[in-house]
Formats: sequence, C-alpha cells, structure tokens
Amino acid sequence: MAQYLALRDYAYIVLLDVVDGLPQGKALDLAQSAPVLGYDSALTGTNAYEETGDSDIVVITSGIARKPGMSRDDLLRTNMGIVRSVTEQAVRNSPNAIFIVVSNPLDAMCHVAFAAAGLPRERVIGMAGVLDSARFRAFIAEATDVSVEDVSAMVLGGHGDTMVPISRYSTVAGVPITDILEPEQVKALEERTASGGAEIVALLKTGSAYQAPGASVVEMIDSILLDKRRILPCSVYLQGEFGIDGLFVGVPVKLGHGGVRQIIPLSLLPEETAALQQSAAAVKDLVDTMARLASNGEPDA
Ligand code: 2OP
Repeated sequence: MAQYLALRDYAYIVLLDVVDGLPQGKALDLAQSAPVLGYDSALTGTNAYEETGDSDIVVITSGIARKPGMSRDDLLRTNMGIVRSVTEQAVRNSPNAIFIVVSNPLDAMCHVAFAAAGLPRERVIGMAGVLDSARFRAFIAEATDVSVEDVSAMVLGGHGDTMVPISRYSTVAGVPITDILEPEQVKALEERTASGGAEIVALLKTGSAYQAPGASVVEMIDSILLDKRRILPCSVYLQGEFGIDGLFVGVPVKLGHGGVRQIIPLSLLPEETAALQQSAAAVKDLVDTMARLASNGEPDA
C-alpha cells in the first residue's frame, strides 16, 4: 500500500510496526526506489506512535494473516487485542484522522476499531468491498475477454465466506453480466470471488494477498483525500440502512473529505436481501463471540 501511495506523490507516509527495524528498513527501500520511479513522497519508518501524529488517514493492517485452510474468522481471538491496542495508540496521536481498517476478520475488526477510537461512524471504514469487487472484475474480464477497464462490479456484505457478489449490478460496458453469461458461468465467477482470498493463501502457503489489498486501500485514500466522491463498497457501521442496524457490513458508500459522505441505497431482489442479511448475521456472530471472550476475561479480548 505504501508503495502504491508513494507513487501518487501527494502523501507523507509513516510506516509503523512493533518489530524494531522492519518499518525503518521498508521505508528506506521504498525511498530508494523514488529516484527510479520518479516520486517525491516522503517516507519514514518507526516503532513510535508519536511519529504518526496528526495523520489525516490511519490504515490499520496489524495482526496475523491466514494460513492455508484457515478462514478469516479463525484470526478473531489474536487480532482483536492487537487492533484495539493499535487503534487506541493511533487515535491518541491523530484524533482527527480517518481510520481505514484492513485487518481480518475485517468487519469484526471494524467493530473493535470503532469502539476503541470513539470516532463518528463516518471516520471508521473497512476495506473489503473494493478488493472483493476488484477480484470479481478481474474474473469477469477474463471470462468475457475484455479489458478490466470496461468491467465494473459490486460485492456487498461481510468480507467472509458469505460475501454477496451482486451480478445484476456487475457490468461489461454497462451491460449486466447476467445478460451476457450463462447462469452457471455467473455462479462460478461469484464463487471464485467469495473464495478469492483463500485461493491466494492456498497458493502462497505463508501470508495472504498483498498487492490487490494494497491497491484497494489506495483507491479509498485517493477518494477521501482528493475528495473525489467515488462510490465504492466499504464496510461501514449501518444504522438501519439496508435493514441492518448496529453492524459493520459492506455496502456502497460515497467517500470524500471527512470520510463516508453518504451511504448509497440500492434496490435489491428478495434473494439478494436475504443473502445480505445472512452475511450480516455472520458478522453479528463474530461480534457476539468477541463480547463473550471479553466477558470471560480472555487476556487479549
Ligand atoms: C484477502 O481477501 C487478506 O482478506 C484479505 O485477501
């Protein structure tokens, strides 16, 4: 993400990690690619939150990643404590920042960050829908043999096995893919999208995807800092929108100055609404599990 953002040439980027030397080394490496790639973005690496002070945007990627065979939900116990601690320290130093959460399980970690930051919902946003839609777009472009530039796609719901690709709103040059492809082909693309992260974890064996998640965060940052008002699917705290209340779930939002400027309503078919509700229920299960872990006095909870 830092690499893609540095190429944009408008940000001062601070990398932070608990491991001494790691963010410093990464920042130096990125800074030394600047003369070749031609950007002037300043980059530093640090282990001290003070150096991130007064950030406009804080991106939280902390936590462990999946190993082959694991679901994102298997990371809950470990990552909830990490994300809470990171958020508390970051918000203390950057009380005016907009937080973008990337850690998994994504929607549950948004709840943790939202509670720990104590910020309005416009300023705590989960990155998932941009990535999931990018995967769907890549698969649609491959299946229809067209440029990815002419494909747009919409994936709603939680960033887990129950995510909801909406093929009716996924198009090639404006034409819904449901009008172009056979129903079995559409279903196969939807299924590959929902397991797109696991496909990469299974191939890499250690660690999960880097490039597409990094690029997806930068698309969100562009829209916020440059006030582009892109409409992108993001995980946001819903308060009745889409019939969901009190949960972070992926829906289309308008991103600009201040963070989430609007939650965009969509008209959904009954089966699409049911799939979205099922996905929201999966997020709620994780939120309930976290509450149970906390009340049992789990050390990390
Ligand atoms: C993914 O889907 C890491 O959850 C991320 O690749």
